[in-house]
Amino acid sequence: MAKIRIAVLCSGGGTNLQAIIDASGRGDLPSGQIELVISDNPSAYALERASANGIKSAVVSKKDIPREQRERIMLGLLEENGIQLVVLAGFMSVLSANFISRFEGRIVNIHPSLIPSFCGVGMYGLHVHEAALARGVKITGATVHFVNEECDGGPIIAQKAVEVLDGDTPESLQLRVMRNAEWVIYPLAIEKVCKSLLSKNNV
Ligand code: GAR
Repeated sequence: MAKIRIAVLCSGGGTNLQAIIDASGRGDLPSGQIELVISDNPSAYALERASANGIKSAVVSKKDIPREQRERIMLGLLEENGIQLVVLAGFMSVLSANFISRFEGRIVNIHPSLIPSFCGVGMYGLHVHEAALARGVKITGATVHFVNEECDGGPIIAQKAVEVLDGDTPESLQLRVMRNAEWVIYPLAIEKVCKSLLSKNNV
């Protein structure tokens, strides 16, 4: 059966990458296949996860290469590997409108809040959970969305709510959001997008 060729872009721990790999191993990603992992950080643990699972990986270092050149290299890698869907999983570089236009409707992201709360420029990683705790919300969660030129502004694909508990720290909240929402909805949403791309024969 045909599968959508997926590249996962990461910068850090890669627990979402791991969740997608695990889902695939369980047979829960029948419409897609991870072909490539790209990291903008040479010491990202996500790279170890790729190699431990026999997935090809590449580093395009944010620290050493200016954005335009970095994106040119990434577009080359995506093309060489026949990539049809780009999955951002804790990828901490903002993509240019030019890059996004090359993969219109074919880039997805996961954000650790219920968009439109606690999102946009400067809201990433632990900062999101710090902001949620500072505001005193009782419910937060995660959102999977298509990427467009507006930071965290593309159409929403999936969301899941998570309770904030008394005594939560940004770290404890982050872990609960990952465990109960991100690692659950991201593989499901990716399968849904892959299936839809295959059914549109839009590959
Ligand atoms: C995840 O919580 C992800 O939602 C968040 O960074 C973390 C990456 O963890 N992404 C953003 O904040 C993007 N705006 P991971 O590397 O272990 O998947």
